[in-house]
Amino acid sequence: MSLIIAFANNKGGTGKTTCVVQTAAALARAGKSVLVADLDPQGNATQSFGLDPESLQSIPTVSEAIKANTHGERGGEGAAADVVVSCEWRDSRGALTEEAKLIHVLPARFDLENRESESGTPGAVRRFAKALAGVAENYDYVLVDTRPSLGHLSQLAYAAADYVVLVTTPTYFAAEGAGRVVDFISTSAVDLNNSKLKLGGVVINKVKQTTADRAQIDGIVETYGDKVWRLRTIKGKLGDYEVENTPDFIPDWTRFAEAENANSSLSAWSGDRARKTTAIFDQIAANIIALAA
Ligand SMILES: Nc1ncnc2c1ncn2[C@@H]1O[C@H](COP(=O)(O)OP(=O)(O)O)[C@@H](O)[C@H]1O
Ligand SMILES: [Mg+2]
Repeated sequence: MSLIIAFANNKGGTGKTTCVVQTAAALARAGKSVLVADLDPQGNATQSFGLDPESLQSIPTVSEAIKANTHGERGGEGAAADVVVSCEWRDSRGALTEEAKLIHVLPARFDLENRESESGTPGAVRRFAKALAGVAENYDYVLVDTRPSLGHLSQLAYAAADYVVLVTTPTYFAAEGAGRVVDFISTSAVDLNNSKLKLGGVVINKVKQTTADRAQIDGIVETYGDKVWRLRTIKGKLGDYEVENTPDFIPDWTRFAEAENANSSLSAWSGDRARKTTAIFDQIAANIIALAA
């Protein structure tokens, strides 16, 4: 069985794309096959997987897969199959990394923006779900990156998904943006034609060790209860001091920006903090795997 999970927040900059990309890497480390669908015309997830925007000009992208529903063969059913490309993370010898071998991408370029205006067409909200039909099943997990909006492109993701995972920072506006997603999907289930859609979890990102952040986290936990994912793990043998504790939430850490610029998985970086951070994403992957159980 395959699970489709949309990462969402109505606010930008909370780390949706970062979490999609690093969670895909973590699922791959756990031996799971992953399809990442980029439903943000900015194409940041696409580029983070090492796919070059120049070369994307000449290949079909997720935009065409969605559009195929209007005039393609089979009415667009399974059209995503024609668009899938491999993740391009490579090691120093130029070979695909072990993670990359298990990650496929439905890439986006800016012209995905053209799909946004098609919301008025009857049935349009199901076009992405239809494009994935028979394709999602080839993967253990489909992760969907969404834009910070509740518009048509995000609705395409919500209409296709089994779960929404909220990514928020411990700030008032981000928590509010997360809340708007939850309100939207609970009031629009009929319009989305997707009664199976559920809240999978809440990831809190960019956490600093401040009282202000702790207060915001308390508020988020008050709202979402045990849906908030506590990512703490204790690694190694406690007795022999080989412990590598990780925090409950994703710390604010400049290395993310560096990994982003290098188009790589955080696991490609060495050092204690990189190990801790990959361990946090391993825990996110474990939580996603637990959703299916
Ligand atoms: N935990 C973190 N610590 C530091 N920077 C982060 C963290 N998570 C994400 N970032 C950075 O924040 C910026 C926005 O993240 P991004 O994933 O693009 O957000 P979104 O997709 O929600 O708009 C990026 O530059 C990213 O590298
Ligand atoms: Mg993004």
